[in-house]
Amino acid sequence: MDSKQPIGIFDSGVGGLTVVKAIESILPHEHLIYIGDTQHMPYGDKSAENIQLYCDRIVAFFLTKNVKLIVIACNTASAHAASFLRAKYWQQVEIKGVIRPAIKSIIAQNFKKVGIIGTQGTIQSNIFQTLFDEYKASTTLFQLATPLLAPMIEQGLYNTDVSKSILKNYLSNPGFNDAEAILLACTHYPLIKNEIQDYFNNSKIILDNAEPMAQTVYNFLIEKGLLATQKCANSEFFVTEYTKEFEQAATLFHGEQIKIEEINLNKF
Ligand code: DGL
Repeated sequence: MDSKQPIGIFDSGVGGLTVVKAIESILPHEHLIYIGDTQHMPYGDKSAENIQLYCDRIVAFFLTKNVKLIVIACNTASAHAASFLRAKYWQQVEIKGVIRPAIKSIIAQNFKKVGIIGTQGTIQSNIFQTLFDEYKASTTLFQLATPLLAPMIEQGLYNTDVSKSILKNYLSNPGFNDAEAILLACTHYPLIKNEIQDYFNNSKIILDNAEPMAQTVYNFLIEKGLLATQKCANSEFFVTEYTKEFEQAATLFHGEQIKIEEINLNKF
């Protein structure tokens, strides 16, 4: 491995770009290769077996790009495929998911009660409670599946009456009332962070996976001596099915027009 090799990052769609942005802001020299598996979006309602199959192809593609690290910028895929991928590829590449970094950051902040919203797949996996128990954390969790949010965001329907009304429907659940913080356990949700903040009248701390994940990547690169010290290549963006919304969101994130390439992963 050497520091000039790229980092592979993926999600089902635009959500993982929130992680890309966080990584770029603390690791500006890294060459990032991003895949949005838009052909299979949403992952949130798929079986664990199917998610493992999709992720397997993505990892196989990243290996052809000689990546030094793979970041699963998706909670659903981290919940259902991270262990599977690590068991299969541990000799070739390090694979990091977004869930543990978020949990460690919550535990470090000593919250008494945290609300968690995520896809059906993430919440049903119960991974958050399992890992909080593993860390012997005393934090109380209130978890709610919010399956309409990721497809809504992927369609670019944020900051609209539609998003406000869907959010109200989910967030009015009394389980959130005494939570000090809300974890956005889906990488798509930071795109509606302000709307969630507004719904709660700024009375809760809104947390997401992006910053803890970026910090974990930074620590890993430092520890392994793999940190890029000068920019060798610009970030590259691939999707498994081109959508205008993806291109718009990616451009919005970067503040400049970015090139999206469609890729067929079936051959990997
Ligand atoms: N952004 C993803 C997550 O963090 C998946 C959303 C979806 O495809 O359902 O869970």
